Amino acid sequence: MKGIILAGGSGTRLSPSTDSINKHLLPVFDKPMIYYPLSVLMLGGIKEVMIISTPEDTERFERLLGDGSSLGIQIVYKEQSEPKGIPESFLIAEDFIGKDDVTLILADNIFFGQGFTTLLRNAIKKHKHATVFGYRVKDPERFGVVEFDHHQNAISIEEKPEDPKSDFAVTGLYIYDSRAVQIAKKLKPSERGELEITDLNKEYLKWNQLHVELLGRGFAWMDAGTQESLFDAAEFIKTTQQRQGFKIACLEEIAFYLDYISRDMLYEKGKSMEKTDYGQYLMEIANRKHNQQYWDAIDHHPMLGLAGNE
Ligand code: G1P
Repeated sequence: MKGIILAGGSGTRLSPSTDSINKHLLPVFDKPMIYYPLSVLMLGGIKEVMIISTPEDTERFERLLGDGSSLGIQIVYKEQSEPKGIPESFLIAEDFIGKDDVTLILADNIFFGQGFTTLLRNAIKKHKHATVFGYRVKDPERFGVVEFDHHQNAISIEEKPEDPKSDFAVTGLYIYDSRAVQIAKKLKPSERGELEITDLNKEYLKWNQLHVELLGRGFAWMDAGTQESLFDAAEFIKTTQQRQGFKIACLEEIAFYLDYISRDMLYEKGKSMEKTDYGQYLMEIANRKHNQQYWDAIDHHPMLGLAGNE
């Protein structure tokens, strides 16, 4: 399974904050926005990731995350010259995907909830064809909207419909087989001049191959695409983290618990930024004797094999 993070776009809805920097590098409370989608891919067990961004910003992401080795994963980068829509990712990443399945996540999407790791890992494990994640929202007309039967097979899917057939938004997390590349090649731009991910999903729907995973009321799904939603997301992260003392989307912590990096690497990374709360947090985890109970409190996932860290 390959992973793609789409971090392109012009970010005009966040101007002037994004006039000189990519939206996905802005902080959501105590870490850059891109940490959140990358944490999702890592929790899903995906170790080969491509980050797609604008020609100006790709290098900035590279400076931030490098080749991924400090997290025990592989990260490669590709440019999207103009924002021509989400499915363009598959054209850009054609060679990277090859014959593998692929999980795509939009870089301004934040997912948080008890059991998310298990849900995602199961979705990846049992995945066939195409899987999207549905989340009930008050304003479905702002999103792709999916209607489904009681086996969670999609019946219809529409992009920003005036009269939505359900309250379930399609989140910016998608799992496909490698056919997505060939399907993306045949798509035509929509009225807004972009290739639409909903059109790609409609192709799978035609063959009854579009599965819906539901994220229930215990989950938070946020897109940080406007000033207000960015502020709300930061506030949510701050409140949740400060109450429990766990960080959300702390990549080094995840890498450590997944056994991708050693205790020493974790400590050194923390030490390199010890003046920050983030750095202190990493050092504290590295110094803990018994991490299992902390990890269990974050999420329950028996299949992860965490024994190596005790
Ligand atoms: C895009 C997709 C939409 C999806 C949303 C999730 O919307 O087109 O189907 O529900 O991402 O964030 P856009 O960000 O292009 O408005």
